Amino acid sequence: MLRQLAQVLRDRKQKPAMASADYWDDRAKSRSGFARSVWHSQSFSEVWDERQQAILRDALVALDGGLRGRKVADVGCGTGRITRFLAREGAAATGFDFSPETVKVADDETRAAGLDASFVVADATSGALPVADGVFDLSLAVGCLAVACRDLDALERSLGAMRAATRGGGAVVLLEPIHHGRFFGRVLREPVEGWVSAARRAGLRLVDRRGMGLLPVRAALSSVEAPPWLVRPLFDAGEGVLDASAWLEPLADYRLLSFRVA
Ligand SMILES: C[S@@+](CC[C@H](N)C(=O)[O-])C[C@H]1O[C@@H](n2cnc3c(N)ncnc32)[C@H](O)[C@@H]1O
Repeated sequence: MLRQLAQVLRDRKQKPAMASADYWDDRAKSRSGFARSVWHSQSFSEVWDERQQAILRDALVALDGGLRGRKVADVGCGTGRITRFLAREGAAATGFDFSPETVKVADDETRAAGLDASFVVADATSGALPVADGVFDLSLAVGCLAVACRDLDALERSLGAMRAATRGGGAVVLLEPIHHGRFFGRVLREPVEGWVSAARRAGLRLVDRRGMGLLPVRAALSSVEAPPWLVRPLFDAGEGVLDASAWLEPLADYRLLSFRVA
């Protein structure tokens, strides 16, 4: 537990480095399981993973009737847990990530799971994904743009690239840690209004938003390995609080923002 806390404190100091591929290459090589691209605590990451899948499934059913047969981009795919979720839901999924070591893990683990998905090394902030315009029905980013983008220009560029890769009438969905404070902010520290304005400038229209990961619960449970019998009820209680009212969304660590491509 002390080793985990020391690692968390080191990570806090390293926040700006999260915008570099070297940082994620190193994580992919030096850590195991969820700690490579989600949280340090495996027991917490497991319930987090389930909740993110449920939220995405819900949002995507509401948007377009679900994922079956859809072509989907997972931008900043990490070790591929969301890409594999997309594949299991029947989508033709492509994961993009700028960390070659992470992409290798994603590819290996997806093959080992007997699932079909493609993985490509690509920088989300470069202004274009290495695909033809409009090839995807949906482009998704989960926990990527808040660490990838150093400022609003980079965010607008990244969202513009996701929009360009998505067909007209398709959707761009973000599930991201959106904060402007120093303590919880990742690399990009902007309020949610800044994200929505950048998306509007990139040609995206907001159609849905909600929160996940009640901050005090997330902060307490994500760093240390607490037993599952404690983690799940506490986490579920936190999500119950967030679900109780849209007014409580500012208490969330992550925000889901769904956009329609004009
Ligand atoms: C917190 S992890 C999330 C991974 C995955 N989406 C998930 O939720 O399991 C952030 C990922 O974004 C990737 N990333 C950060 N900046 C990026 C960029 N500019 N282009 C592409 N990927 C990037 C990192 O390599 C890392 O795998």
